[in-house]
This record gives sequence, C-alpha cells and structure tokens, in this order.
Amino acid sequence: MNLQGKEIVLGVTGSIAAYKAVELLRELVKAGASVKVVMTESARRFVAPLTFATLSRQEVMTDLFTLDYDAKIRHIAATEGADLLLVAPATANVIGRFARGLADDLLTNLFLASTRPVLLAPAMDADMYRHPAVQENLERLRTWGVRIVGPAEGELASGMWGPGRLAEIQEILKAVTEILQPTNDLAGEVVIVTAGPTHEPIDPVRYLTNRSSGKMGYAIAQVAADRGAQTILVSGPTALTAPRGVEVIQVETALEMRAAMLDHLPKATVVIKAAAVSDYRLSRPSTSKVKKSEKPQTLQLVPNPDILKEIGAQKGARIVVGFAAETGDLLRQAGRKLKEKNLDLIVVNDIGAEGAGFSHDTNVVSILDLDGGVEQLPLLPKRQVARRILDRVVRLRQERGSGG
Ligand code: PMT
Repeated sequence: MNLQGKEIVLGVTGSIAAYKAVELLRELVKAGASVKVVMTESARRFVAPLTFATLSRQEVMTDLFTLDYDAKIRHIAATEGADLLLVAPATANVIGRFARGLADDLLTNLFLASTRPVLLAPAMDADMYRHPAVQENLERLRTWGVRIVGPAEGELASGMWGPGRLAEIQEILKAVTEILQPTNDLAGEVVIVTAGPTHEPIDPVRYLTNRSSGKMGYAIAQVAADRGAQTILVSGPTALTAPRGVEVIQVETALEMRAAMLDHLPKATVVIKAAAVSDYRLSRPSTSKVKKSEKPQTLQLVPNPDILKEIGAQKGARIVVGFAAETGDLLRQAGRKLKEKNLDLIVVNDIGAEGAGFSHDTNVVSILDLDGGVEQLPLLPKRQVARRILDRVVRLRQERGSGG
C-alpha cells in the first residue's frame, strides 16, 4: 500500500476501540500518508493526545475555538487540502450527530464543512448497533455518499458476541486504498449482479420467500462499480440502499428477475448470481385476500425457471458466476451445479457455519472453478468476499481475453 502524498484527517471518537486507532495511524503513516488527528473530548478519556501527536508528528486537534497559525478557521482549514476524512472508531453518538447535521465540536464541524470523501468505521455494542436509530442514521449517511467499513462481528468489550467490533485494521486500510487509489481492473466490463430473495405471491398480502437480505449481492455490485465496471444490479425486495454508481432494477418475483436478466443479458460481459431465487411459485395465486374462515388449503406449486441455467446455456464469451447455499456435502453439491448450469465459477457458502450465509455481514465461502480448483476463504466481511470473487473474474478475463 502506497499512500505517499496523501493527506488524511483521522477522527477518533470515544469508544474503547480508540486504542486501535493508534495502530491504524501507525499503518497510515508507514504507508506514506500525512495524518492529522482530531480527537473528541470523550476519545481523550481513552487515549492521550500525546500518543497520536508523537506518531503522526503533528499537533492533535481537539478544540473548535482556536485559530490555526495562519489565522484560518480551524474547521475549514483542517480538511481543506485533505484527501479523506476517516473516522475510526465512530461511535453511535458521532454517527447520530453526523446524520442529523449537528455541529457542536470540531469533528462534527469538520464533517459538515468538508467536501472530501468520508469513511466511517463504526464501533459500539451489538445492541446499540442493531438499534433502528443507529441503522437509520447509517443508511442516511450512506445515501449522502459516506462510506462505511465494518463493523465486524465478534466478542465485544461488554462480553457480548455480535456485530459492533471495529473492522480489522487491514480492512480499514483496504477501504482507504479503494477510495484513494481506485483500481480500474473491471473497466470495460458490463457486470450484471443479482441480489436478495424473491417474493412469490400467495394472495395480495402473503408470499413465499427466504432469508436473503441482499447484502452479498449488493457488496459485489458496489465493489464491481468501484473497480470500474458498468454495473447493473437486479434486486429482489431488500431493505438496502442502492450502491453508488450502480443501475438498480427492482424486481419481486423469479419471473420478473428472469425477464430483467434476459433483457440486459445481450450487453453483459459478466453475470454474478447471488440472489436466492425461490425454486417454486404458486400455480394460481389468489387475486383477493384468502380469508381466515376459508378452510385450510394446500398450496399448489409449480417450479420457477432456473434463470442461471438458462443464462449458462447461452453464455457465449461471458463469465458466469453462480452461488450455492448448502448445508452438507458442500463441495460435491456445488461442483454438480457448476457443471449442470455451465458456469465458470461457483461460490458455495456453508450456511450452517457461524457468521455465514443469509443476513450476516460476513460469509464463509469456497470458490470452485472448472479445473477442479477450490479456493477456501476464511470468515470475511461480505465486501471482502466480493473482492475475492471479482479478483477471480479479473484473472479469468486475463486468461481468456476480452468479453462478449
Ligand atoms: O442475501 P444475503 O443475506 O447476503 O445472503 C447471501 C446468500 C446466502 C443468499 C448468497 O450468498 C447465496 O448463496 N445465494 C444463492 C442462494 C441460492 O439460491 O442457492 P441455490 O443453490 O438455490 O441456487 C444456485 C444458483 O442458481 C444461485 O446462483 C441462484 O441465484 C441460481 N438460481 C436458483 C434457482 C432459480 N430458480 N434460478 C436461479 O437462477
């Protein structure tokens, strides 16, 4: 990682994870970045400013009401020439104040006054992180273009297990590099990604579905767009915010997903199918609400088309990547789907493993290829899994030459 010549403002807020910001600062400085540290009042209760000042070789900024040496107003001067405002750890409190536009200390003023990219690494207790207020604030910040890295799942300072740990330092550094040195290795590709579940109506109020949140597919779409691909995301119903720079097509049923895919397929050079498509739909969904008083009925199901298999059959020069969600005999099942659906790669998640598969922010996957290769990845944030899958796509493209 080379951050030579880059200027970063590192905001440190009052979390027990503040001590990890010391290591983060060391790594940023080692990579050549010039780092100005801004500490909130509560951060200074966890770590002394002197530690950051010594490692950054710069004065640590804490006070809103001080003029800089050249008499510039501090909250404007601090980020003026900066390439990035990075806040790590970012507490629920500072996330809330950013999201509401409050400006009652130096860091919140910097956030409002800055026009530079912003990256937040949240850290808090799991229940706080799950609270709708925090989730809503993070979503609001995302829609403004603020990038979020983490949090990771694991043991927390409270002794609880869950999401809320500051993302690993290497993960934060990767996110910084992605912003400051975007890779363009997917430029020229048109990538269609699918994500989320499908809803197969029973009547106007009920439907058949599954536990997919869309997180895996959205992460792939975001990373593909960040790496220069024209990216189209065909999404089943999810609660997620559209990734930046991605064309999103919202669908509900498997048939709608199929239609959207086939519509865009002619221009696609890469297809990645992370959606959990319902294998069945009702043969005749009711057009009016089925009354409780009506006697219990048997749902008559018919199979949905296998969209991926259909795309595999007309693959041409495209790179087609499927997913498989399995609980037992993972590799054999996935290997069978790889061949049956004429794919180039299949990503199999062990949905029985801790932190893997549906709804989690992390996943545990293996990537199988046509040469019988199996790349087993450890438990990783879905964004990092997305990167590893796209690394394989880039490698395949380099081996094969340009797409169709
Ligand atoms: O959304 P998240 O909460 O982040 O969870 C991610 C995930 C677990 C949903 C994702 O990682 C995943 O595994 N997606 C595929 C799940 C699945 O439906 O697997 P499958 O083995 O049933 O299907 C195999 C492949 O065929 C998949 O690429 C699927 O999109 C595709 N398929 C399946 C059925 C169908 N009718 N049409 C299809 O195209």
